[in-house]
Amino acid sequence: MMDSKDLEAEIHPLKNEDRKPQENLGNQEKKETNLKTPPPSRLSRCRMVAFFLSLFICLFVVFVVSFIIPCPERPLSQGVWRLHYNEAVAYDFLATEDVNKDRIQDVLFLYKNFNSSNNFSQSCADEGFSSPCTFVAAVSGANGTILWERPAAQDRALVECAIPQPRDSGASSACVLLGRLGSFLAVDLFTGETLWNHPSHFGGNVSVLSPLLQVPDIDADGAPDLLVLTREERQVSGYIYSGSTGQQVGHPGSLGVDGASGSVLHVTRVGAHYVLLPCANSLCGCSVKGLYEKVTGRASALRRDPFWEDMLNATSHRLHPHSSGAVRYLMHVPGKASKDLLLVSSEACMLLDGQDLTPRWTFSPAWVLRKPILGHYKPDTPALVIENGTGADRQILLLDLGSGAVLWSQALPGLHGDPPAASLPTADHRSAFFFWGLQELEDANHTEPGAAPHHLYMFHPTLPGVLLELTNISANIVAFQVVLLEPSRHAACILLTGPTSPDAPGLVSMTKHKVRDLVPSSRVVHLARGGPDSDQAIRDRFSRLRYRSET
Ligand SMILES: *[C@@H]1O[C@H](CO)[C@@H](O)[C@H](O)[C@H]1NC(C)=O
Ligand SMILES: *[C@@H]1O[C@H](CO)[C@@H](O)[C@H](O)[C@H]1NC(C)=O
Ligand SMILES: *[C@@H]1O[C@H](CO)[C@@H](O)[C@H](O)[C@H]1NC(C)=O
Ligand SMILES: *[C@@H]1O[C@H](CO)[C@@H](O)[C@H](O)[C@H]1NC(C)=O
Ligand SMILES: *[C@@H]1O[C@H](CO)[C@@H](O)[C@H](O)[C@H]1NC(C)=O
Ligand SMILES: *[C@@H]1O[C@H](CO)[C@@H](O)[C@H](O)[C@H]1NC(C)=O
Ligand SMILES: *[C@@H]1O[C@H](CO)[C@@H](O)[C@H](O)[C@H]1NC(C)=O
Ligand SMILES: *[C@@H]1O[C@H](CO)[C@@H](O)[C@H](O)[C@H]1NC(C)=O
Repeated sequence: MMDSKDLEAEIHPLKNEDRKPQENLGNQEKKETNLKTPPPSRLSRCRMVAFFLSLFICLFVVFVVSFIIPCPERPLSQGVWRLHYNEAVAYDFLATEDVNKDRIQDVLFLYKNFNSSNNFSQSCADEGFSSPCTFVAAVSGANGTILWERPAAQDRALVECAIPQPRDSGASSACVLLGRLGSFLAVDLFTGETLWNHPSHFGGNVSVLSPLLQVPDIDADGAPDLLVLTREERQVSGYIYSGSTGQQVGHPGSLGVDGASGSVLHVTRVGAHYVLLPCANSLCGCSVKGLYEKVTGRASALRRDPFWEDMLNATSHRLHPHSSGAVRYLMHVPGKASKDLLLVSSEACMLLDGQDLTPRWTFSPAWVLRKPILGHYKPDTPALVIENGTGADRQILLLDLGSGAVLWSQALPGLHGDPPAASLPTADHRSAFFFWGLQELEDANHTEPGAAPHHLYMFHPTLPGVLLELTNISANIVAFQVVLLEPSRHAACILLTGPTSPDAPGLVSMTKHKVRDLVPSSRVVHLARGGPDSDQAIRDRFSRLRYRSET
């Protein structure tokens, strides 16, 4: 009491002299009123009892929650795990799903096994394939133990996982594998058991175009159906299969165009579905309603978009006739109202409005040989990562998706066999980016494939002048992903390495590294001179990055 008054006296030395007597008077009055108050009534005793009772209940609940009810046990994740197959061949397929329902994403991949002495529960012959055949394996993301693996195709296959299944089928999600040679089967994502299995019967000269598309449920069985596009003699045909039984619906229907792999299913603003595919120098399309009616011979309840029907040339089925150079990739990107389309041709990248296909921006000249990826450079603003050029002339460019403006660019020589870049959202609503390349100061004499290691670089937009070289790998990388194995923790690099040619089977490895564990031993590459931070401070900032699950 005296202390605070002294302090006040120092601040207001004059005023205080006048006030002191008044305050003393007030205090005396208060003391008198305190003396006059009657002893605690029954009501306030009740209140006290209620207060202590509720306090006790609270403490009891805290006690029960923290000590008696056991916490759900979190499976311990290993920082690194590896899985090896001798005498095998790897295929470019990698998917992550929570297979064993432990809330940690698990990894699915394909390999062709030449060594029949490995102890599998099933052999190629059990599934009607000759040995060697292609296996699909699901491994635990936590520790790399095999959850299930089974023969799935004779050779290379198109795979699509997480295809919803009808509620009464017993399985909630499936992986569908379409073998290039005669098999078409669906396995339960969670157990690896066969859901259905049919021989596929495309002719000898028919090539199957990737990907396997999921189209609206045509046979009303509660599961999306599957559209397989094939190409024969410069004609693309569509085959529709029931998603729950794998039975073909109707007959194959011609799309009336010649086209290439890389189709997408586009939904226009009025809810009409169109299959879009690259066809030479333009974008071709076909309404799913039209295809259904052609295939089944019956009217379909799906819609057509009158605006799109006007845009579609009825004879050539072309939608967007003026692209400079052959279209290499077609992809959906987030747009203002719905999804927009990015068209990557041999000479330019072009963003098209998802509704009227008018170009929003064109980025040229660009020589993009790999499918771009998306990420965030500025918070919550989508950006596009493109690799311009190859070999010693390769440049990494980050473009603002809204305007096509270059946000960041860096020359990063690459190798022919480098995997594509990757990105992962971070808690600050930007993304961490991962690029493969050659160490930039390495002499150019090392460029024969297999000799120079592939270096993995990490980049974060808050440190635009720095690349972090996380690791280097000498083996041939077949597939690569950076994923969040556990929500908002555990960012991991997943690498599938091994030979790809069946003529030379060898060691196939599946490896997981925790990104954070790679940072302490990483090398800091300063792109701009005179950065104020020490290498250790930069590594610490990368270690502290927190990741965010994609919404
Ligand atoms: C097959 O695999 C086993 C164990 O993984 C190994 O010991 C054996 O040498 C392999 N056989 C061939 C022919 O590579
Ligand atoms: C074979 O199975 C045993 C026990 O199930 C396991 O310990 C061993 O690692 C397996 N070998 C291979 C090559 O998968
Ligand atoms: C690996 O993790 C799974 C959970 O993902 C667990 O069930 C299994 O027991 C673990 N295996 C080993 C060998 O730690
Ligand atoms: C494949 O095409 C070649 C030439 O184009 C033809 O001679 C052959 O008969 C075709 N094979 C089949 C199975 O259609
Ligand atoms: C449709 O395409 C054909 C062949 O490419 C062309 O001759 C025709 O002029 C096009 N029609 C329209 C309306 O653009
Ligand atoms: C892309 O690369 C090509 C060839 O390497 C070069 O001519 C072109 O200028 C580059 N484009 C941009 C925008 O940097
Ligand atoms: C590359 O190799 C050649 C001879 O093989 C040598 O003369 C040259 O110095 C090498 N370049 C570098 C950068 O080491
Ligand atoms: C590759 O990485 C290892 C450590 O991970 C490091 O010791 C080695 O120097 C690196 N090699 C090159 C060529 O950078």
